[in-house]
Amino acid sequence: MLEIDSVTIDYRAQRGNIRAVNNVSFTLEKGETLGLVGESGSGKSTLGLSIIRLVPPPGAIVNGHIRIDGTDILNLSEEEMRSIRGKKVALIFQDPMTSLNPVKKIGAHFVELIRTHEPTVSEREILERAKKALNDVGILPERINDYPHQFSGGMRQRIMIALAIALNPDLVIADEPTTALDVIVQAKILDLLRSLRDTYGMALILITHDLSIVLERCDKLIVMYAGSLVEYASSVELHRNPRHPYTQGLLQSIPNIELAEQKLEAIPGSPPNMLNPPKGCHFWPRCSYAEKKCRVEEPPIVESSPGHFVRCFREAHNLERSRKR
Ligand SMILES: Nc1ncnc2c1ncn2[C@@H]1O[C@H](COP(=O)(O)OP(=O)(O)OP(=O)(O)O)[C@@H](O)[C@H]1O
Ligand SMILES: [Mg+2]
Repeated sequence: MLEIDSVTIDYRAQRGNIRAVNNVSFTLEKGETLGLVGESGSGKSTLGLSIIRLVPPPGAIVNGHIRIDGTDILNLSEEEMRSIRGKKVALIFQDPMTSLNPVKKIGAHFVELIRTHEPTVSEREILERAKKALNDVGILPERINDYPHQFSGGMRQRIMIALAIALNPDLVIADEPTTALDVIVQAKILDLLRSLRDTYGMALILITHDLSIVLERCDKLIVMYAGSLVEYASSVELHRNPRHPYTQGLLQSIPNIELAEQKLEAIPGSPPNMLNPPKGCHFWPRCSYAEKKCRVEEPPIVESSPGHFVRCFREAHNLERSRKR
């Protein structure tokens, strides 16, 4: 249902050009769950926003195609785009307080949202649907008459999810839905999203900087580094057989409760300054395998096994060698 094809997004800031998303491609089928993982500044939110064409200025999609059910949304008018947002693709933001209006009751948020897409529906029907959606996310339906500040952070996040599913979209994008919340609430919210996925059959993109959270909750995973997709595979494959040195580093820094003694290793160094990223592979300054070539040339993306994509020279060389054999 979603096809991201060679998408590149730049922020043309006064201080210089930032390539926030660099030639990223992937696809998502109906009902699939995708985890989008990467450190702060790797371009996850920018990529998520591009799917509903809401990359804020001075950002712009400078190359590529974004197809939803075969239609390239980059060719649609702003009005056509409005009919897709919320209805076909819903986005849940990092901080619910910025998306909920403090002076409006919860019910009014549903009325506003649903009216935009279905102007003829009666208020009574909307409120009935809203109550059902609230019930689905574990909030008492009668709280429809409360204001946002009367809820805890975790409950506000649930309200955002209820709003997102109210129009029964085909795709829900949850951008770091849980950073502000504690770990137990985090896991609960993600499990809630997954169970809603099972009920409603929507596709789900979970954006997070924490690989351990999505590893067992998603069908597919994309690992991003400094704007580039460095690895893309099914979660099972990526867990068992990580190929990119960055992914390997991320996995090594996750504590495993089944191992009594485990050496946890943090990836040395820090992410690059995106105004002036390293030449070649952006990861080379932190990579223990970096060779001369990595410092000058951008590595190609190769399919190391069916459906498993890696952007790394080492992987490209290995593949070449095994082909020659
Ligand atoms: N409005 C903006 N103007 C200029 N640069 C921006 C803007 N928004 C984001 N960027 C830059 O684009 C890059 C990608 O940012 P983005 O917010 O997409 O990353 P992220 O992976 O979502 O990070 P985080 O985990 O912190 O949310 C960063 O280098 C960031 O500084
Ligand atoms: Mg972000």
